[in-house]
Amino acid sequence: MLVGLPGSGKSTWAASRKRAVVLSSDQMRLLLSGSETNQRIHGRVFAAMRYLLRERLRLEQALTVIDATNIRRKDRKPFLKIAQAFGARVEAIYFDVPLETALQRNSGRARRVPEVAIRAMAARLQPPLLEEGFAAVKKVSANGGSAKAKPRSGSK
Ligand SMILES: Nc1ncnc2c1ncn2[C@@H]1O[C@H](COP(=O)(O)OP(=O)(O)O)[C@@H](O)[C@H]1O
Ligand SMILES: [Mg+2]
Repeated sequence: MLVGLPGSGKSTWAASRKRAVVLSSDQMRLLLSGSETNQRIHGRVFAAMRYLLRERLRLEQALTVIDATNIRRKDRKPFLKIAQAFGARVEAIYFDVPLETALQRNSGRARRVPEVAIRAMAARLQPPLLEEGFAAVKKVSANGGSAKAKPRSGSK
């Protein structure tokens, strides 16, 4: 499960994972409504993503990438619950880039998210924690380097 602001590099990273199937919320908006930026169908978009994740797990398909911002714990929980029901391992890949970097990258691409929306999301962002049920939390920094996040507080 990818976690990060718009412009943090999630979809670029996902595209480099050749063996993974990517379920992208932007792609789902396009499939369902003909527009990648349609924000009025949020509920349907995520219902469709959950449905496809469930079907893939039922068919024992390896490696599904959930490409959405997933910034709050409550955004992540439904996907985690589905994976847990199937005994599947879930990793969080956290795109821990500075707000200014995300804004800069966003402004440099064709499909721009409004800057105010990104700033509001940055204020609400809850970094993913092992406690939520992730088998691992990995960080991807602004330069694309990755590192394992610190273990949960209280454990060694
Ligand atoms: N590691 C990186 N370094 C520099 N630019 C990047 C990097 N990753 C992505 N970008 C650029 O930043 C923009 C946003 O990336 P994208 O993957 O679409 O972000 P997200 O899916 O998180 O919204 C794109 O124009 C992309 O080419
Ligand atoms: Mg994206």
